[in-house]
Amino acid sequence: MQTVTLIPGDGIGVETSAAMQRVVEASGAAIDWEIAPAGEACIAEFGTPLPDSTLEACRRNGVAIKGPVTTPVGTGFRSVNVALRKELGLYVCLRPVVSLPGVGSRYEDVDLVIVRENSEDLYAGVEFEEGSDGAARLISLCEDEGAGIIRSDSGISIKAISRTASQRIVRWAFEYALANGRHKVTAVHKANIMKHSDGLFLAEARAVAAEYAGRVEFDDKIVDAFCMNMVIDPQQFDVVVFPNLYGDIASDLAAGLVGGLGLAPGANIGDDCAVFEAVHGSAPDIAGQDKANPTAQILSAAMMLDHIGQRRAAERIRRAIRSVYARGECLTGDIRWASGSDLPAARCSEFTDNLIETMEAEA
Ligand code: NAI
Repeated sequence: MQTVTLIPGDGIGVETSAAMQRVVEASGAAIDWEIAPAGEACIAEFGTPLPDSTLEACRRNGVAIKGPVTTPVGTGFRSVNVALRKELGLYVCLRPVVSLPGVGSRYEDVDLVIVRENSEDLYAGVEFEEGSDGAARLISLCEDEGAGIIRSDSGISIKAISRTASQRIVRWAFEYALANGRHKVTAVHKANIMKHSDGLFLAEARAVAAEYAGRVEFDDKIVDAFCMNMVIDPQQFDVVVFPNLYGDIASDLAAGLVGGLGLAPGANIGDDCAVFEAVHGSAPDIAGQDKANPTAQILSAAMMLDHIGQRRAAERIRRAIRSVYARGECLTGDIRWASGSDLPAARCSEFTDNLIETMEAEA
């Protein structure tokens, strides 16, 4: 029996987490849940959207699954997601992108894996406000060093890419490829323009790739060309490794190619802990209405079950999901909308009932 920390989250997270919990329990997985709070509702009680007790629960159990958490705008609170990744050392963001039958999306045979660096780059939030002393000092330093002229009324965000984090994420991508029967790793960058940050990432990617020569193929793509290739021919990609920000954007692009955010699962992984979560956010526009598609969070739970060695339960869940989509009778509104179908939309709870019945019928 494995204890898993469950962070239900905000908005539709409450609904998708409940659906996920029911499906995992019906799959026969040997799991005990330890429920831990995070998000807007915690602020009044704990004075923070990410209580220490929740971080402790993640550390203690080594594995967690969370629903999306709203990032309060203008309150001064940091994003719970960024804080979790940092506090728990979750340096890998893993996002498989796989077509499901019957979704009616642009492509029917996409099967690629996004490996996104999770700890640095522009996304790390190292910033100087316009007009601040720090911004002024940095602007003069750039001028004094001959690095370039920055307008004096600029806000500045720092893009730092390290040798350490680049090597670590690319090596992780190659090891993932070997362990999962994948044949190619593609590194995505803009090294032609950002020579000292993306250029370093690419140089490290090439050096690591050389260690795997003959076992896993390697190529690289400039990020703009990568986006065009994804839209025209996503089947050419297998494992794709990114610095943080490009990986963030490419994840939504990739999700859109296979039917949208309602279908995109993910995981944040470190050496001692892993937190599984859907790519999507708390969707305030449909929260509390039983309309959300819980598939992304349920597929995230299947990834979690693989991670803790409960592959049979994971495969039961994935097989039933494929069957429900192939039948196409009980699908949520986001999928109906994306495929232009005028069939009625199933509620989140109806979809979940149907999935559990299917899983039981296939046992
Ligand atoms: P969002 O992903 O919540 O919503 C974007 C659009 O996709 C909305 O129209 C929404 O209704 C739809 N959508 C998303 N997931 C869906 C699902 N499972 N089923 C059906 N429709 C779905 O992105 P948005 O609006 O930019 O962010 C809302 C909040 O979520 C923000 O506070 C943001 O910071 C937070 N967020 C949290 C994340 C996390 O906790 N991992 C990730 C992304 C955003």
